Amino acid sequence: MSSILSIEMSTILITVIGVLGAILCLVYLIVIILAHTPRKIVSPERTYKTCECESLPLIESKSSNPSLMVSVIIPCYNETERLRIMLDEAVPHLESQYANDWEILIVDDGSKDGTAQFALDWVRNYNLQKGSSKSAIAADRVRVCVLVKNRGKGGAVTHGMRFFRGQYAIFVDADGASRFSDLDKLLQAIKTSPNPEKAIAIGSRAHMVNTSAVVKRSMVRNFLMHGLHALVYVFGIRDIADTQCGFKLLSRKAALEIFPNMRTERWIFDVEVLIRGRRKGIPVLEVPISWHEVGGSKLDLATDSVLMAVDLVIMRLAFFLGIYKDNIKTKSD
Ligand SMILES: *[C@@H]1O[C@H](CO)[C@@H](O)[C@H](O)[C@H]1NC(C)=O
Ligand SMILES: *[C@@H]1O[C@H](CO)[C@@H](O)[C@H](O)[C@H]1NC(C)=O
Repeated sequence: MSSILSIEMSTILITVIGVLGAILCLVYLIVIILAHTPRKIVSPERTYKTCECESLPLIESKSSNPSLMVSVIIPCYNETERLRIMLDEAVPHLESQYANDWEILIVDDGSKDGTAQFALDWVRNYNLQKGSSKSAIAADRVRVCVLVKNRGKGGAVTHGMRFFRGQYAIFVDADGASRFSDLDKLLQAIKTSPNPEKAIAIGSRAHMVNTSAVVKRSMVRNFLMHGLHALVYVFGIRDIADTQCGFKLLSRKAALEIFPNMRTERWIFDVEVLIRGRRKGIPVLEVPISWHEVGGSKLDLATDSVLMAVDLVIMRLAFFLGIYKDNIKTKSD
């Protein structure tokens, strides 16, 4: 009698273990299938344009020696409408605060509306207006790199972060929603932190949750925003209030440790940057910044929210299962 029972018990046990094993394998397989692999860089993407030159080689930022103070990476997709506002604000600020110690690297993410040409024309016009005075910008200071095919914002930022020259690098949305001069605040936060060599400072809009800029948004948008926050909270980053703000500054060393390993090409890549920073023990400083809602967002609320949620869960599982690694060997592909 008792032996029959124990045979039954062991059958159940084996079945349970089998089912769990099968589920685990299935999850592993699904994560592998849905995990992101960055698109390979094709050779035209290793060049840049300036308002004077068509094609100059980009140099990969590997060495820890910067050649200037601050690099501004602007990912752009179809931004002829909004980029002007951004540049009108950013360039005079950089000129006045950082003299000749800055650069802008615009990564045109396969735009179809002539964004790259627009940016180059903007620089040419700016210089024409300044004449030969000192405040004309040197051609090489604003570089435009064109991706032959759209990669997604994460992919565009990652691309820019492989070829920056600064001691610090910030990525900024092209829409001008953040006040550009808040760059100084982020820089100050890193410089006064215990280890300025290796730190991340991110713009935060968390102090604005009750202000009209956020309350004015539609119910659906706010609902989705809260949903995403909840998900980010559950899947990893608890102590950062605003992970999605497109205004993040990294010290050179932090950028070089994080970006070569990046996998996510779409929106949720912000969270991957922060998770990777965490895993490497790089401090993340949240700095309240000014921000206002700008129309013409490329976010398709319904679809993109679902994709974000999926990416987030997959990313977390991929780290957990060791599919996303902290250090990939960077072979010069
Ligand atoms: C980008 O611009 C092109 C040309 O103006 C247009 O056909 C395309 O639909 C735009 N794509 C998006 C996602 O706005
Ligand atoms: C926003 O309002 C809620 C409820 O009125 C309050 O609990 C919360 O602390 C406020 N947050 C900020 C940042 O003011």
